[in-house]
Amino acid sequence: MPIRTVETSPFSDQRPGTSGLRKKVKVFQTLNYLENFVQSIFDSLEGFAGQTLIIGGDGRYYNREALQIIIRIAAANGFGRIVTGRGGLLSTPAVSCLIRKRHAFGGIVLSASHNAAGPEKDFGIKYNIGNGGPAPEQLTNAIYQRSAQIDRYLTIDHAAVDLDHIGAYRVGSLEIEIVDPVTDYADLMETLFDFARIKDLFAGGQFSMCFDAMSAVTGPYAREILEHRLGAPAGTVIRGVPLPDFGGGHPDPNLIHARDLVVMMNGTAPPNFAAASDGDGDRNMVLGPNFYINPGDSLAVLAANAHLVPGYAAGLSGVARSMPTSGAVDRVAERLAISCYETPTGWKFFGNLLDAGKITLCGEESFGTGSNHVREKDGLWAVLFWLNLLAAKRQPAEQIVRQHWEEFGRNFFTRHDYEGLDAAKAEAMLDRLRNELAGLPGQRMGAEIVKTADDFSYTDPVDGSVSTKQGVRIVFESGARIVYRLSGTGTEGATLRVYMERYEPDSSAHGQSSQTALAKLIANANEIAGITAHTGRSRPDVVT
Ligand code: G1P
Ligand code: ZN
Repeated sequence: MPIRTVETSPFSDQRPGTSGLRKKVKVFQTLNYLENFVQSIFDSLEGFAGQTLIIGGDGRYYNREALQIIIRIAAANGFGRIVTGRGGLLSTPAVSCLIRKRHAFGGIVLSASHNAAGPEKDFGIKYNIGNGGPAPEQLTNAIYQRSAQIDRYLTIDHAAVDLDHIGAYRVGSLEIEIVDPVTDYADLMETLFDFARIKDLFAGGQFSMCFDAMSAVTGPYAREILEHRLGAPAGTVIRGVPLPDFGGGHPDPNLIHARDLVVMMNGTAPPNFAAASDGDGDRNMVLGPNFYINPGDSLAVLAANAHLVPGYAAGLSGVARSMPTSGAVDRVAERLAISCYETPTGWKFFGNLLDAGKITLCGEESFGTGSNHVREKDGLWAVLFWLNLLAAKRQPAEQIVRQHWEEFGRNFFTRHDYEGLDAAKAEAMLDRLRNELAGLPGQRMGAEIVKTADDFSYTDPVDGSVSTKQGVRIVFESGARIVYRLSGTGTEGATLRVYMERYEPDSSAHGQSSQTALAKLIANANEIAGITAHTGRSRPDVVT
């Protein structure tokens, strides 16, 4: 099949963010925009001739069209095989699972995660390397540099591939395999968790749960695993059919966007346990009746109880959390006498630690939890881990968390997001703060005295690479801290994220809400950065 070289000219805005390139669908539909970026990825890689590429997306608007374009470019560039899920669907952790299982060269994830979907909304593309994880910064930088110079892309002329039937097809010398999107992933979950025990939990009739797939990619996964393999009653999974616009919702599993589930859990006769996942299936939120489990606490509880789960019973080599995530897991690591690493925000920073066997579990405050089973965070995996603990302990989730606090103390944590800010003003606010950091130590703010103030910089312990400007942190003598950073995943204006945390050893004070427990710190955060003065906002848009 003849390879066609198409002349093109660069776009100046193809720098990947925290998690790949995210833009409005309309931008991706611009002539040559997607083609340029995909060719820039391939131009930045070496040695893939004849190799396998896994491609899948969360089913959002433009998923199918993008996949057809990428198939033609991959064929022209000499890949040997493409594996994708039926309908072009694969959750992000399922892409990671398939890359590893098939020893693929790499993979492409088509998703903008929890961002809204539809013709006027967001789309995204992310390259994953052979370990199954997001490309490290050196590679995303190389892709960006290539995108700034690109002058041609390669493609072939070929009719659209039928994505809706499992089977193998040929496009020129490229083999295309359409697989069931769920099977390999569900099989992997069975190797990690005690499915028999969880089945018993559901079979007893005393336990019920609700899983909100938010009309995004996890519906088919949750149905197969929870309702079919684990015997949970039909209807356990709600909003289980992936829709191109996610039903008009915002598939971000948090207290604001998973509101219906929260209302259900706070209402009369709630199920014993509830969970939700995001657009591409890598995030999770877990809830008990009237009880929200903060992701930092969730990670700590999973680490403290990992010995109860078959896949982790041999022990944890170490744990890691992103810098803004609460230090709850640090206390567990100390107790277990294992290492705890603090990384910049973004899952890509866990990849080397996982590959080197330095950590087994890791997580982020942004509803991301995962382990060495794949190289992405994994929403359903976290839910199954919790189910395994509930089945092993036969205690409500709330009791497990409260006992954990009793034993380790409680890290009160909250994140305040200010969305849709003027990007220049938000940058200016952080720049001003950076300039003032040196003068902050020693300053008193109410009962707190600033101990250190810096901009987080990370040296990867495996390859020595350095990532700077990863978040401004103010740490007080009491151990309480405030972190400020700008989001790297948005597509409109800037989002300021402010993270606040303080440790409370006294169990008689554990009952209060995070917002109450952190009220003074929240006020300090505003005062130090001058949030209201700089942004004109008197309160955050999202509080988690
Ligand atoms: C956000 C989260 C971060 C997560 C990323 C991808 O990035 O904060 O923890 O890894 O989404 O899911 P941000 O928008 O803050 O750059
Ligand atoms: Zn996601």
